[in-house]
Amino acid sequence: MIEVRNVHKSFGEKKVLNGVTLTIPDGVTYCIIGRSGCGKSVLIKNIVGLLEPDVGEVFIDGQNIHKLGREELFKVREKFGFVFQSSALFDSYTVFENVVIGLYERGIRNEKVLYNEAIRTLTAVGLLPRKEEVSEKEFEREWRILKDKMPAELSGGMRKRVGVARALVGSPSYIFYDEPTTGLDPVTSEQVDNLIADLAKKFEITSIIITHDLFSVFKIADYVAMIDDGNLVFDGEVEKFRESQNPVVQEFLERYKTKVV
Ligand SMILES: Nc1ncnc2c1ncn2[C@@H]1O[C@H](COP(=O)(O)OP(=O)(O)OP(=O)(O)O)[C@@H](O)[C@H]1O
Ligand SMILES: [Mg+2]
Repeated sequence: MIEVRNVHKSFGEKKVLNGVTLTIPDGVTYCIIGRSGCGKSVLIKNIVGLLEPDVGEVFIDGQNIHKLGREELFKVREKFGFVFQSSALFDSYTVFENVVIGLYERGIRNEKVLYNEAIRTLTAVGLLPRKEEVSEKEFEREWRILKDKMPAELSGGMRKRVGVARALVGSPSYIFYDEPTTGLDPVTSEQVDNLIADLAKKFEITSIIITHDLFSVFKIADYVAMIDDGNLVFDGEVEKFRESQNPVVQEFLERYKTKVV
């Protein structure tokens, strides 16, 4: 469980988070929305310990992340997986190398271990057939082709999947997605939404998603938090979001309506 308690964060004169309090229960899909520059990424960075709050606390499974020593912080970070905006693959690395880079950096060099984890996660995101569905020869062929591909040879949707496979390596309890569907066409966006929902269910993973895409929110979220000017203007079950009388929420919903109709 993630608990954010009264987090304030400023950069110089600029107040970005103005006392944010929220709880992300285990196993849920939690979407964070709000207009550009409202503080979504800063909030996530405070949650994972990349930024320190000026005031307030963040607890990950009961541990105050900003009070941990280096070693303990690394241990807690192993519970997290990140899917960065625009996939952030390394262009000069193969698919295989991109997926296992985190393990490699943790000092794991055993090729069999690395291969197995890459196969497990690339299968989970649908880039490889499930072993039981095809012959061994067919599987080996698909794996050989995929593992040595370079990011430039992949479509946007495939790159996104490779990015998700990388985040799943090491079986994290929490996975953070920063605008996973931005820049993708509607069909690919929907596939990515389905993937996020499938993984959440299959691995009982807690998913935290920053998005501008209200279509995704209504499709996959259990909970929504909306930030405006550093304050939470909504935090609760997605079903209650439409009923919120907060003018900022209403305005956001209005825009969404005009966009889809
Ligand atoms: N390290 C930093 N130093 C100074 N200002 C920062 C820093 N990080 C973020 N900011 C400022 O904090 C504000 C919120 O930034 P943040 O990246 O959280 O926005 P966001 O909600 O994620 O926006 P977007 O939807 O465009 O990604 C912005 O005004 C940004 O310029
Ligand atoms: Mg951001």
